[in-house]
Amino acid sequence: MTSQTLREARKYEEASAKLITEEKRPSFHLSARTGWMNDPNGFSFYKGEYHMFYQYYPYDVQWGPMHWGHATSKDLLHWKYLPAALAPDEFYDMDGCFSGSAIELPDGRQLLMYTGVVKERQKNGGFSEVQTQCIATGDGMDYEKYEKNPVLDEHDLPEGCSRFDFRDPKIWRREDGTYYCVAGNRPADGSGQLLLFTSPDGFEWKYKKVLCANNNRFGLMWECPDFFKLDGKWVILASPQDMMPQGFEYHNGNGTLCLIGSFDEETDFFTEEYSQSVDYGIDFYAPQTVLSPDGRRIMIGWMQNWDTCSLRAAGQPWYGQMSLPRELSVKNGRLYQWPVRELEDMRGEKIVHENVCFSDTITLDGIKGRKIDMELEICPGDEEEIYRKFAIRFAQNDEYYTSLSFRPHESILKIDRKFSGSRRAIIHQRRNLVNSDNGKLKFRMILDRFSVEVFVNDGENVMSAVIYTDLSADGIVFLADGKVRMNIVKYELI
Ligand code: FRU
Repeated sequence: MTSQTLREARKYEEASAKLITEEKRPSFHLSARTGWMNDPNGFSFYKGEYHMFYQYYPYDVQWGPMHWGHATSKDLLHWKYLPAALAPDEFYDMDGCFSGSAIELPDGRQLLMYTGVVKERQKNGGFSEVQTQCIATGDGMDYEKYEKNPVLDEHDLPEGCSRFDFRDPKIWRREDGTYYCVAGNRPADGSGQLLLFTSPDGFEWKYKKVLCANNNRFGLMWECPDFFKLDGKWVILASPQDMMPQGFEYHNGNGTLCLIGSFDEETDFFTEEYSQSVDYGIDFYAPQTVLSPDGRRIMIGWMQNWDTCSLRAAGQPWYGQMSLPRELSVKNGRLYQWPVRELEDMRGEKIVHENVCFSDTITLDGIKGRKIDMELEICPGDEEEIYRKFAIRFAQNDEYYTSLSFRPHESILKIDRKFSGSRRAIIHQRRNLVNSDNGKLKFRMILDRFSVEVFVNDGENVMSAVIYTDLSADGIVFLADGKVRMNIVKYELI
C-alpha cells in the first residue's frame, strides 16, 4: 500500500519536474528529478536495467526529510525518472529514509536495505537521530516496507557502538547464498568503524564483527561504505566526515577513502595494504558500486560535497547530481577509474589537432563546448628546457572560466573554478600531485554542462568539480609559459 506521504511526493515531483526543461540539467549525469539530491542509493542491475535510487527531498533545493528518488537506465548515461520509491512514513523512519543499497532476491523481488531515522529528545532538550536498518521489497517500481522493521537496531550492536551513528548498509550475496552487509558506525573512541552483519535470507540479520576500525586515522565517522573484490584485491570505499588533510590526500573535509587490501573469507579478516582518496577534485562523496552483468565494477558518487553546497546557481529548481559512472580497476596497488565505455557511444563529431606547439595563449578550431569528451597529451616543446606552466581554460567567455593548470617542475595539476559564477567565498580550487615524467602528462576531461571530470594518466587520479557557470560560456583557451607541444582529440557528446 502506498502511503499518503509517498503519494503526495510522487504527485509533487511529477508536476514540478515538468517545469524543468532538459537544457537546464546535465545531459547524461543523473540529477535530482526536482528539489534536492544527495548520495546514490541502491545502485543495482535489476530486470535488465540499472537502477539508481538517491537521497531525495523533492520539496526544496535544500536537504530535508529524506525520501528515495528513483531512476533507471540501460547504459548508465540516459536515465529515466521513476516515481519516488520510499518516503519517511513509518514510526521507525519518520524523520528520514537514509542511504542504503539494493539486491535481487531469488524469488525475483528487489530488496532495498536502508537506514530509518527517528529523532529522539535528549535530556538537554535537544534532539538526536536514532538510526536503525530497515528493509523494503518491490518490483522495480513500488516497494513495501517489511512488517518486522527495523531489522537491525541498537540491541544488535556490541557494547560501545553508537545508536545515533549507525547507517548506510551495503548488502551483497555470497556464493553460498547467504547475505552480508556492511554499515558505518561510531564506536566509543568517537571515530568511525565498519560493522559486518550476516543473514541467511536478507531479512533476519545478526552482527558478525568489525570489518575495519578507523581508530581516528581517517576523519571521524565513516559514511556510506562499500566492499568488494577487484582484480585479486579487496577494496573498502567509505566517506569519512571531518577529514584532516595528509599531504595531497583528503582535502575535502567530508572526503572519500579507498582502502585496498586482502580479505580472508573464512575468518572475515580484512588486512589493509594501501590507502588513498577516491577523488582528488572538489565535489565527490558517498560513492556506491554495482557489478555489471558483464563483470565490470562500476562506481557512481554524489558529485557534490557537503562543504561546498553553498555553490549553486540562483533559481535552479534542482540541486545535486551524480558523477559519471566509472569502471574501476586496481593497478600497481592503486584504484584506477575510467568513464564507462558506454560513453564512447555518445561521441559525435571528432576534432583532432596534433603537434600543436605554443608558448602563449591560443584557441584551436572546433575546440569548444560544454558537452564534450576531450583527450589531451602534453609534453615539452623544447627537450632542453621544460615549460613552466600549462593551462586550459574552459567554460570560458569574457566573464567566466574554470581552469586546469599543470606545473611540471612540481608535478602539480590544479583545478580552479573561482571564476565560474560563484558569489560565495568557499574553496574553489584543489591541487593534486600527479605522476609525470619530464613534463609529459595525459588526461581526459568530460564536460556535461554543469561539471568537469578529469581522468589523469589513464585514470590513476581523478578530479571532479561542479561548475554552475552560465551555459553561454563555452570557450576553451590554452595557455603556456615556456614551450608546450600538445595533441588533442575532442568529441562532441550527443
Ligand atoms: C552521507 C549521508 C549518509 C546519510 C545520508 C543522509 O552523505 O550523511 O550517511 O545516510 O547522507 O541524507
